[in-house]
Amino acid sequence: MTTDRRPRIVPADVAGIAEAVALLRAGDIVAFPTETVYGLGGNALDPAAVARIFEAKGRPAHNPLIVHLPDAAAARALAAGWPEQAERLGRRWWPGPLTLVLPRAACVPDIVTAGGGTVALRVPAHPAAQALLRAAGVPLAAPSANRSGEVSPTTAAHVARGLAGRIPLVLDGGATNVGIESTVLDLSGPMPVLLRPGMISRAELEREIGPVGAPGRAPLPEEPRPSPGMLDRHYAPRAPLHLLQSELDAGELARAVHARGERVGAVTFGGPPPDADEVILLPADPEGYARGLYGALHRLDELGVALILAVPPPGEARWDAVRDRLRRAAHHSP
Ligand code: TXA
Ligand code: MG
Repeated sequence: MTTDRRPRIVPADVAGIAEAVALLRAGDIVAFPTETVYGLGGNALDPAAVARIFEAKGRPAHNPLIVHLPDAAAARALAAGWPEQAERLGRRWWPGPLTLVLPRAACVPDIVTAGGGTVALRVPAHPAAQALLRAAGVPLAAPSANRSGEVSPTTAAHVARGLAGRIPLVLDGGATNVGIESTVLDLSGPMPVLLRPGMISRAELEREIGPVGAPGRAPLPEEPRPSPGMLDRHYAPRAPLHLLQSELDAGELARAVHARGERVGAVTFGGPPPDADEVILLPADPEGYARGLYGALHRLDELGVALILAVPPPGEARWDAVRDRLRRAAHHSP
């Protein structure tokens, strides 16, 4: 049943966790905070619960889900093999914003992996996610708690707005700390491959396990998808986002929007803000910028701007994950 009713937002305290667990045990789905973004969780071992996640998000069935676990031992039980690299990375970063793709164990349902032979595993660090996983006693399949293709939520209010009428409950753990999705690393092939950059950087991974490869180009829509993490259009606000090349560029774009009587938003970090009606200033360091980026995009959508201008961050490697998200947000299908 779909209504416009906002889901109930409850604090992620003992009572809230108990309420969420009761829903999960009944095969329902709930949104919960992680340190990266809010997730939409259901029992990963129950195909009907996982189907509800796909339904609520409007997510295409070919895009597999990340399974969340309370610790590395629980993660290992869902993989068919556990390479030395997984052991090292798990010890170094779990719990934390790292997802490892490994050959799947037989108990992982097809719907979770989109029929593929691998499963994505993550041990989140957020205390509410930890408490929920331990109390539920089952692994939770959890994509970001947004409609497919929209900007990921970093607050309970973002979730409630984006998934109104589609989920019963949001556990509120405040604004998330990392702000963009986990680093996804594929360990299922002959060489580790970075499928999605995140705040744990390629350089940090390489210090732990040696060379990490890059995925090939994103597949065209009709092609089979060997690495679903590469789907191109993602994380996009409602208003088109334009990554600025020059100030001239900014002025021209803004004038065209103003001529239609509409307003322009901008996301920037220090320096003179572009000519816009609503300017959101983010910190000039990658951690602070990542923490604030999705909140800024949600805010500009709420303000109803017709165009979002973004000042591109520096080309340095430590901005890789932020540049990736901006590039995806700017990639609009016609
Ligand atoms: O930080 C995060 O990872 C958040 C929080 C909630 O944990 N979750 C998240 O999930 O971002 P989602 O579904 O929005 O993104 C998961 C990404 C997708 O790009 C998906 O294609 C990829 O991981 N993925 C999942 N399973 C995979 C697999 N077996 N092989 C390759 N990529 C996979
Ligand atoms: Mg997502």
